[in-house]
Amino acid sequence: MATHLILLAAGQGTRMKSDLPKVLHPIGGQAMFLHALASAGVLSPERTVVVIGPGAEAVAEATQAVDPTAVTAIQEDRLGTAHAVAQARAALEGAGGDARVLYGDTPFLQPSTLAAMAEARSGGADVVILGFEAADPARYGRLVMNGDRLTRIVEWKDASDAERAITFCNSGVVLAATDTLFDLIDAVGNDNAAGEYYLTDIVAIANARGLKATAVACAEEETLGINSRADLAAAEAVFQARKRAEMLEAGVTLTAPETVYFAHDTVIGRDAVVEPHVVFGPGVTVETGATIRAFSHLEGAHVGQGATVGPYARLRPGAELSNDTRVGNFVEIKNATLGDGAKVNHLSYIGDASVGAATNIGAGTVTCNYDGVFKHRTEIGERAFIGSDTMLVAPVKIGDEAMTASGSTITRDVPEGALALGRARQENKPGFARRLFEKLKAAKAAQQKGD
Ligand code: UD1
Ligand code: CA
Repeated sequence: MATHLILLAAGQGTRMKSDLPKVLHPIGGQAMFLHALASAGVLSPERTVVVIGPGAEAVAEATQAVDPTAVTAIQEDRLGTAHAVAQARAALEGAGGDARVLYGDTPFLQPSTLAAMAEARSGGADVVILGFEAADPARYGRLVMNGDRLTRIVEWKDASDAERAITFCNSGVVLAATDTLFDLIDAVGNDNAAGEYYLTDIVAIANARGLKATAVACAEEETLGINSRADLAAAEAVFQARKRAEMLEAGVTLTAPETVYFAHDTVIGRDAVVEPHVVFGPGVTVETGATIRAFSHLEGAHVGQGATVGPYARLRPGAELSNDTRVGNFVEIKNATLGDGAKVNHLSYIGDASVGAATNIGAGTVTCNYDGVFKHRTEIGERAFIGSDTMLVAPVKIGDEAMTASGSTITRDVPEGALALGRARQENKPGFARRLFEKLKAAKAAQQKGD
């Protein structure tokens, strides 16, 4: 049976104290609500509706970018969670099937948990709520159970002392037949302590209509909601812990896992080694057998098999390192390809460039790619040798097996096999240094006498 997704993302996130809508704050380099969307993606929802607040065009754009089939519905006034879900009605008109309500600020639900809810639905429950045993139930809604039946959900603000003693709490996640969900929501009023339309009220209404509601439990960590910067930091820690465990499980060596930071889409092959204090921004793939040495920073980069990066290297977007390449300390690579076995070992900037296979780039080489207005390319052939401290003023081409002399500023193309010298000729003046020293020392002595 088709399942549809309603993702509530209309929260203002006042406690974030931010100009950015709350759900766009990133975890592992990706907007938090896209994590929630991705967790539901495993179940391939037929229709996806993201409910956003007024003026949250950026949330709509981010949704479109990852899922062009998803639609957004705007909740003009924030009148409560039932009212928010009701905004998805038009988009789900005639859709049939089941609808699942998830939250943009609750990014960590596991696919197995969502599957357990679906199982409870197939087992005959009309409304399935996801609950959890709260270590500190605080202000969560309480699930009032009678055997395996959920009779109602009571919000903390409206609960009696006896109800507040319940520790089985509401995560907010709901699964029900789409038509049933909207029928129940139609009957929800706002006569409560908050004056809001509570989605949670659908449970008591369902029971009154003779429908069966039940609750499925998950680990509290999965329902972790983000309301403040402190919550965001805690969520990042949860995300990183999961990602590190996944990497280790996949056969990646992490010397000090707790010091390595991953992005949501980091891919690393087995038998790769990641040394301490490495940061992966979005868009990085590292092939099997590669080594990322300590204190390196990578984003938007691809590292081929058997390559070594770092220590202290920076790979920026468009860095494409073929197999067995070497990128050493204090080297920055941006929008550049390195052919098989190419080496850039020390203190260099290689940007908007291609470096052929087995070429060696000497220490302190810079591709001068920017003239203040335009970016230009540097193309270096195979088996070339770029001498230390070469300035390659782009656009410029260096042929296969060509060489540049150390300290050269190269402004013209170098044909294959040629040696380019682009520096002032050295002149030695015999005895000059000694005479100069004597003169300076005499001047200093005269000055001290006068003091
Ligand atoms: C809600 C539940 C509570 C549960 C808790 C779990 C209700 C009435 N209460 O309470 O039982 O324990 O979540 O975190 O549902 N939202 C909108 N539009 C609105 C109102 C809310 O999009 O008009 C979104 C919020 O952005 C948020 C989510 O719905 O993502 C929950 O809303 P919030 O106000 O935080 O509900 P709680 O009071 O935490
Ligand atoms: Ca909340």
